[in-house]
Amino acid sequence: MAKQKMIIDCDTGVDDAQAIMMAVSRPEIDVIAITCVNGNVDIDNVCKNTLRVLKICDSLHIPIFKGSARSIVHYDEDASHVHGKDGLGDVPDALDVNLNCIQEEHAVNALTRLSKMHEGEVKLVALAPLTNLGLALRMDPDFSRRLKGLVIMGGNMQGKGNRSTSIASEFNFGSDPEAAYIVLHEMKCPITIVPLELCLSQVFPWEKMVECLDLNTRKSTFLQDITKASVKRQKADREPGFCSCDAQAMAVAIDSSIVLKSVDIFATVELNGNLTRGMLVADWRDKLKKSPNVTIVEKTDPNKSLSIWKSMFY
Ligand code: BDR
Ligand code: CA
Repeated sequence: MAKQKMIIDCDTGVDDAQAIMMAVSRPEIDVIAITCVNGNVDIDNVCKNTLRVLKICDSLHIPIFKGSARSIVHYDEDASHVHGKDGLGDVPDALDVNLNCIQEEHAVNALTRLSKMHEGEVKLVALAPLTNLGLALRMDPDFSRRLKGLVIMGGNMQGKGNRSTSIASEFNFGSDPEAAYIVLHEMKCPITIVPLELCLSQVFPWEKMVECLDLNTRKSTFLQDITKASVKRQKADREPGFCSCDAQAMAVAIDSSIVLKSVDIFATVELNGNLTRGMLVADWRDKLKKSPNVTIVEKTDPNKSLSIWKSMFY
């Protein structure tokens, strides 16, 4: 069977790293490019982290493209308090990656070029603020018609935000609301949204996580290092298991049969609210009478998710 071509757009922090490690380890997936964007940490750290992850996976043949260093209109915070100042847990880095390996072509140009080169074949997985995707649509309005599909980790449904400067928005949507708005309103390929609520409910049970972290392989040791601080924090917060939003979105992108419940709905992004800017707003009661533009995932199979998650360790 032909492999599924995939492009990953990310802001490599701890959970992006896990998602990338899962994707590159799957025999049915062919990651043809990784495009980086400012988000969890600044763009240079994001590129460096992505290189570190690919080096650990012996996958440096996958081209990495540097993208936008700022959101479209406004940028006010990163997530270094969650992922560490360097984005990967601030542990000593013995990998000594060569930053010259980052491609010269801008990520946005790479996205539009690759969509032409592999028309109808590429699944795009967005794990970060949607700046690169919004800009790609502005540069080439037909960009999204050439994609097979888009899976987004982003947005929330209950208005319980996870950013520090706003109470209602999820980090990726809230970091670049205009880009999220452009993507939801203008993308012409099928869009699957894996929202924050699903990720918070679908966690990696602690005993299974510890088992995998103790495998004593190159990848498990790397994951043990970079997740140390997050594990400590999440355990202190009495979370039922390790929460990795991007890993969960990647699991859905790798195998859509893990989805047990989803809804096709019209959804947009609040751009003006003082307290709600960046919040995903879904038209649950069909007040706007608009055709659905997204599929929002509401429930996934925990056993299937877990077995896909485990592939990041091998
Ligand atoms: C999202 O925000 C980032 O910190 C994570 O990498 C993930 O993509 C979760 O809201
Ligand atoms: Ca991310």
